[in-house]
Amino acid sequence: MILALENVTRLFGLRRSFFGERRDLAAVSDVSFFLKKGECLGLVGESGCGKTTLGRLAGGLLPPSSGRVLFDGRPLPEAGAGSWAAGRIQMIFQDPSSALNPRLCARTSVAEPLAAQGASHNKQREKAEIILAAVGLGGLGGRYPHEFSGGQRQRIAVARALITHPDMVVCDEPVSSLDASVQSQTLNLLRDVQERFGPAYLFISHDMAVVGFMCERILVMYLGRIVEEAARDALFDNPAHPYSQALLASVPSGQLEKKFPPLVAGEPPSPLDPPNGCHFHPRCPLAREVCRHKMPDWKELSPRHHVRCHIS
Ligand SMILES: Nc1ncnc2c1ncn2[C@@H]1O[C@H](COP(=O)(O)OP(=O)(O)OP(=O)(O)O)[C@@H](O)[C@H]1O
Ligand SMILES: [Mg+2]
Repeated sequence: MILALENVTRLFGLRRSFFGERRDLAAVSDVSFFLKKGECLGLVGESGCGKTTLGRLAGGLLPPSSGRVLFDGRPLPEAGAGSWAAGRIQMIFQDPSSALNPRLCARTSVAEPLAAQGASHNKQREKAEIILAAVGLGGLGGRYPHEFSGGQRQRIAVARALITHPDMVVCDEPVSSLDASVQSQTLNLLRDVQERFGPAYLFISHDMAVVGFMCERILVMYLGRIVEEAARDALFDNPAHPYSQALLASVPSGQLEKKFPPLVAGEPPSPLDPPNGCHFHPRCPLAREVCRHKMPDWKELSPRHHVRCHIS
């Protein structure tokens, strides 16, 4: 096991009004899960449900308000990137343009994590060229970010994340900013390099189809909480939570669409004012009385399938 989260909660203090009344927003609430070595674990949910916050907690970029994040069995220190975990955890973000320094050539950008570890200049250059070739950008290390396409820039970000041979890469919506044809190339690349270099991925996306393509196990998140955890096939064939069913109903693959009721219309509620009981009940087509006042427990349907729902 490379990563374990135990009852992790992250609050953000917000000033609610001009008069300075403060309130806490729970971006992530009581989340527990683990990630095995070399695994690709998916995290899926709508915009604002807390995926990026959870990714940053898992990567040690953000300390939890309560609970523990264990990396390789040890609590992750606050400065994850500057500690013993340096180089062992890397991140890939949604927008490759903002992740790359426009003044650095690709080779220097890619080598930065090695430079931070004090590697010699020659070593940095040599490894950067090898890893750039591995992502299909061999010989282009001297170019600058503006001389690459969006898809190529994301390849640079992938190369940069892999250069330290990390044990884990948090991929936060790595293909959301790319157009469809480049998306699938980039996903294939992420899969290839995972096979070659062996890191575990925590793979974040709002797109169930993308997560289904990449991940053998999937966590479904709603308003700061994990509501279902299952192997991909179990989730796609037998989603237990009505929210997972609704997400699957939007995957354009024919039969699935008819099988499950779509979401009750409406936006997800604000994490500042989460509904009582099951947070999903106002949008749930199956909600009953109990759902309105009691938060469902985390239930085991089978050893590899868990759900937080009164009905399933
Ligand atoms: N630094 C912060 N300060 C205050 N609130 C924050 C902060 N970061 C995130 N939030 C809030 O926490 C909630 C979860 O945000 P987060 O970015 O984790 O969601 P997300 O699932 O990644 O969304 P998206 O799919 O749009 O990227 C949101 O309500 C957001 O406004
Ligand atoms: Mg996000």
